[in-house]
Amino acid sequence: TFGNYEVIQNSLHLHGHSMKELANEYGTPLYVYDENYIRENARRYRESFEQGKNIVTYAGKAFLTVEMCRLVKEEGLSLDVVSSGELYAAKRAGFPMEKIYFHGNNKTREEIAMAVELGVGRFIADNFRELRLIDEIAGEMGKTSNAILRIAPGIEAHTHEYIKTGMIDTKFGFSIVEKEYLKAAKAAEVLPNVELKGIHCHIGSQIFEVQPFYDAALAMLGILKEINEEIGRELEELDLGGGFGCYYVEGDDPLEIEEYVDIILRGVAEGIEKLGMKEPRLIIEPGRSMVNNAGVNLYTVGAIKEIPGVRKYVSVDGGMTDNIRPALYQAEYTAVIADRVESDEKELVTIAGKCCESGDVLINNIEMAKMEEDDILALLYTGAYGYSMASNYNMLRRPAVIFVSDSGIKTVVKRQTYEDLLMGQE
Ligand code: LLP
Repeated sequence: TFGNYEVIQNSLHLHGHSMKELANEYGTPLYVYDENYIRENARRYRESFEQGKNIVTYAGKAFLTVEMCRLVKEEGLSLDVVSSGELYAAKRAGFPMEKIYFHGNNKTREEIAMAVELGVGRFIADNFRELRLIDEIAGEMGKTSNAILRIAPGIEAHTHEYIKTGMIDTKFGFSIVEKEYLKAAKAAEVLPNVELKGIHCHIGSQIFEVQPFYDAALAMLGILKEINEEIGRELEELDLGGGFGCYYVEGDDPLEIEEYVDIILRGVAEGIEKLGMKEPRLIIEPGRSMVNNAGVNLYTVGAIKEIPGVRKYVSVDGGMTDNIRPALYQAEYTAVIADRVESDEKELVTIAGKCCESGDVLINNIEMAKMEEDDILALLYTGAYGYSMASNYNMLRRPAVIFVSDSGIKTVVKRQTYEDLLMGQE
């Protein structure tokens, strides 16, 4: 599935606008999002998962702007933030603070104070220091904060090493080694200004298999039961994180949103039956799968270099600064020429960025229609972890972000100016 993008007369369009037209109008590089498609994903998650009690929390790290916070709010989702910066964006959007889940393995005092003050719904408490700080700061402000304990359940998911998070050797969460989570639950229980609500895990990202989600649900229910016995009351919330895989290139075979949801619901249903437990309120945190296939990055082709018998490099006007995923994770993408999607004349090329790094390659070897200078290149399925991981390396200015919907086009983030680039400098 690829949102509402469609090929009309061999040219890529979104809601009646051609990519070529958008590139001319807004300049390149450009982040283009299909707003309707993000909203549709939000609805599909809610409809399949919530069942009147469960909660879908969008993981903002995948892609967050003030407008995206507004969209998430309008669609009735909760929001997972991982820093005071993301929290500030949510505040700017008027996002309901009680629907915010604050994550992170090393929240600073300042971040905790800001979150307590604003009254975020849940702290996903990662360690003992954080529990202590939340209690201290909430106490000083005369408030009570709700916490969910993050636990690393020791589930191996087959994905890139850098984006695995649920295994035993991880910086995230309370460990299963020597049942640290029991100590954490007991410690949280006695804190006067912290109310313990439940437990959380997140096993990794871009996971195609079903089994790890199922295993995680079962493992976490077992842990929840042990904790309940230890503290002598029933915690009501079980947050199973995100990580649902997305399509990028031929051969990728992700499940549909409803299928991922079904695995989780099934794992939980079987688990509570087996363990004889009451069903907790469930929470999931999809990030990538909400936005990835809504996004396309547009670039203008510049220098073309052919090394006979070796390789042909086609360089574009962006690169690792707007999408670091290929350089960082060897992530693969697919691309088309915006107005020559199909062509009989194909050639093998490597699409390079403009940064001073040999590793700044967006696509290593792709069969494409023959490209020429000034062609508009559309990199597909780029909606997640592109803009959110963008940098100003080489002092490149961050591109604009636009939302295209059936009711028009919104500039969600303006292209950075030279002044923006030097902000804070004399
Ligand atoms: N919840 C927690 C606690 C997380 O750490 C993450 C992602 C998510 C939810 C959302 O996972 P998703 O549904 O997006 O897979 N930069 C990497 C991905 C890092 C994921 C970090 N945590 C990439 O570009 O592949």
